[in-house]
Amino acid sequence: MPILIRGGTVVNADHSVRADVLVDGETIVAIGTGLTVPAGTEVIDAGGCYVMPGGIDPHTHLDMPFMGTSSADDFETGTRAALSGGTTMVVDFCLPAPGQSLLAAYQEWRHKGEKALSDYGLHMAITWWDKQVHDEMETCVKTYGINSYKHFMAYKGSLMVNDDELFQAFSRCAGLGALPMVHAENGDLVWQLQKLYFERGYTGPEGHPYSRPPEVEGEATNRAIVIADMIGVPLYVVHTSCTQSLEAIARARAAGKRVYGEPLVQYLVLDESEYRSTDWDHAARRVMSPPFRDKKHQDALWAGLANGTLQVVATDHCSFTTQQKRMGLGDFRKIPNGTAGLEDRLPVLWTHGVATGRLTKEEFVAVTSANIARILNMYPKKGRVAVGSDADLIVWDPEATKTITAAKQFSAIDYNVFEGIAVTGLPVVTVSRGRIAWKDKEIRLEPGDGTYVPRDPFPAAHVASITWKEASRPRPVGRIEVTP
Ligand code: URP
Ligand code: ZN
Ligand code: ZN
Ligand code: ZN
Repeated sequence: MPILIRGGTVVNADHSVRADVLVDGETIVAIGTGLTVPAGTEVIDAGGCYVMPGGIDPHTHLDMPFMGTSSADDFETGTRAALSGGTTMVVDFCLPAPGQSLLAAYQEWRHKGEKALSDYGLHMAITWWDKQVHDEMETCVKTYGINSYKHFMAYKGSLMVNDDELFQAFSRCAGLGALPMVHAENGDLVWQLQKLYFERGYTGPEGHPYSRPPEVEGEATNRAIVIADMIGVPLYVVHTSCTQSLEAIARARAAGKRVYGEPLVQYLVLDESEYRSTDWDHAARRVMSPPFRDKKHQDALWAGLANGTLQVVATDHCSFTTQQKRMGLGDFRKIPNGTAGLEDRLPVLWTHGVATGRLTKEEFVAVTSANIARILNMYPKKGRVAVGSDADLIVWDPEATKTITAAKQFSAIDYNVFEGIAVTGLPVVTVSRGRIAWKDKEIRLEPGDGTYVPRDPFPAAHVASITWKEASRPRPVGRIEVTP
């Protein structure tokens, strides 16, 4: 059934305008006033509301095997939570076990994705390196529509790759038109610091942030930037949490390098003091890497979003129940790392960003959908309210309020790190590929309604970076042959 969203203000990353939006099938077919609508069109009243592109969360770990367990939200509960919070697409990380074929891992993750209610895409992680991985990367790009590769510089002994491997994998990305991404923390240093603190008797969750200070993130961010720059490939730094990392990105961008940074909504509003709670469960539930930081880092991250140094606000949604977190009782190194946020990203960001004046509503669209759609080469199919774009839309009521509580959430876990935070600004309707997914506080889609979204390689930024690297590379010196 066609849908007319009437009476709202359409907000894109570059411009806002009062207009109605007509959806037919999976796409937006008209935008304007006085539109002629087909018989049987469902009309949604958007008076007083903003009509924005559905959120895209490019950093989720649904049903992820990690640290001896699997994250609690799968593609069903995770995408249900996402849609209720105005996010219409997630990009999850396909994670081959060390030694596992990338192609086999891809099939596994597509199988997990069969339960999705919303659209989803995949990044591939490089967790080990040899000729097989090198060769299979081509199939992932050309056949499976994966144009981004994640590298963990931390998690020594499991997912971590070293600088040689980063160089080789980034080089391969350069040739295939794919974007390298990094989890930037110096994994060797973290390993040493974890041991040091544990042996000194720091067994509780506070040992987690103590062993992962901002300096280890800043160092790794800078190192990854240098490696990418030697090759001339753009770089995407996931979960940027601190000034040290932000400054490395800002320096690189000021020097003309194409480096992207992604703070999480958690880092923007929650801080390190949570780990000093005397309630073990409270602190452990917030254990993630990099950890929440001292409050002083937050102003810098907000400024980075406003001035364009940072492009994307994500969640790194990787949820574990309290019971799972208790695997680390007596040893903070065994607490499964990860927090949730899919349901809350947009309302929390609006409340603390747009309502406070830190961001404009257009910047909100930029950092929640449009920028990542561009970076991952799916714009304007995704990330824009435009004729011909996918009908992934939210009707956003800037006056609607709620207090976040685990008791009412869709996520499968038994707590919420944003518990008790009052938000103003909520999606009253979410449309996913032309179907009403969320309305009257009810989810209307079923598991399996989601579609896998493949992406093409060679976005414009990639082509420009590689072209410039070639044009500006050092040249050999021509010499008259010397005969001995
Ligand atoms: O603690 C985190 N962030 N868990 C998920 C895996 C990762 O590092 O992104
Ligand atoms: Zn299957
Ligand atoms: Zn990570
Ligand atoms: Zn992650």
